[in-house]
Amino acid sequence: MNPPPGTKELRSRFKEVFGAAPDGVWQAPGRVNLIGEHTDYNEGFVLPFAIDRTARVAVRLRPDSTLRMLSTFGNQGLTTADACVLDPATARGWTKYPLGVLWALEQRGIAVPGLDLLLDSDVPRGAGLSSSHAIECAIILAVNELTGAGLSVEDMVLATQRAENDFVGAPTGIMDQSASLRGAAGRAVFLDCRDQSVRLVPFDAEAAGLVLLVIDTKVSHSHAGGGYAARRASCELAADVLGVRALRDVGVRDLEEAAGLLDTETFHRVRHVVTENDRVLQTVELLEGDGPQAIGALLDASHASMRDDFEISCPELDLAVDTARAGGAIGARMTGGGFGGAAIALTPAGAEQRVRSDVGRAFARAGYAAPEVFRVRPAAGARRLD
Ligand code: GLA
Repeated sequence: MNPPPGTKELRSRFKEVFGAAPDGVWQAPGRVNLIGEHTDYNEGFVLPFAIDRTARVAVRLRPDSTLRMLSTFGNQGLTTADACVLDPATARGWTKYPLGVLWALEQRGIAVPGLDLLLDSDVPRGAGLSSSHAIECAIILAVNELTGAGLSVEDMVLATQRAENDFVGAPTGIMDQSASLRGAAGRAVFLDCRDQSVRLVPFDAEAAGLVLLVIDTKVSHSHAGGGYAARRASCELAADVLGVRALRDVGVRDLEEAAGLLDTETFHRVRHVVTENDRVLQTVELLEGDGPQAIGALLDASHASMRDDFEISCPELDLAVDTARAGGAIGARMTGGGFGGAAIALTPAGAEQRVRSDVGRAFARAGYAAPEVFRVRPAAGARRLD
């Protein structure tokens, strides 16, 4: 099989900047979450898929402990002479992600080699499409293979989570890297975040006469601190009060009793997680039965729950969702951790142009930055290209 376009260019650019050919080129995609938000760290269910926007790394192991990392975008690359940069306090820009992965491997007792690395990526940054996990997954695949560390996919999921949580400082769950590592063309990844068991579920919007549009609001967000961490903390507190290991163990039928035990805000947080888990299960059932045409109402309900109960939407996301729905989308919701980023709109192919122009106009009228709207479909997961 010929390596995909761009691989040769990355190889020759690597040779140009580092003076020798890379040992290989690896690729990992960003993700869109179809449904199941803020359920992963509650040991619940998610249904994301890998997209055809990817991070690619060309890597060469070095005989010494020097780490040199450059990217094709901007001048934020780093060249350093030793391994002491495996320190969250000094890591900067995108290099946090590869350094975080190397650090997490070291924490597992894996000897971290010196390496030269060149990164290229077309996953939009700050759009809620997990550009950081795409980088981390490409790198962990490369290092796992080159060092013969023998990590399983489950191990790689946990190591990248460790990198995010304890190096980058974002207390995120395991959804994004699982989608990137396990995605497949035409399939969404139904993941049980308690035991990492996975079922690939057919999701071919286009065969059903639909397109899945991403509306990047250009409102940038970070999960390192602030609202994301606060939501996670209230979920954990609620689980404690309710006497369960995680909110995964609370069912829709338990909500009435939970309301009596929690303050109103915490109860609303719990109600989001509990009903969202249920919506994931219903979505899987519908996709395996009637197909994508049947899931619109669940996407809408998910958005309402995030807006009203979990309170992680923002005016730009709400406008994107409402305008897409009014323009003909059969269901729409914000996707990802919230507080900015992107919305998705499941749209009949015939209404795509209308949704695109209505959303653009509505944002202009509201005085918001112009959003970027593009189609996504489930694509292959992380792999070696060359
Ligand atoms: C971010 C995190 C994920 C998940 C989502 C919300 O994308 O990285 O682990 O918690 O937010 O569903």
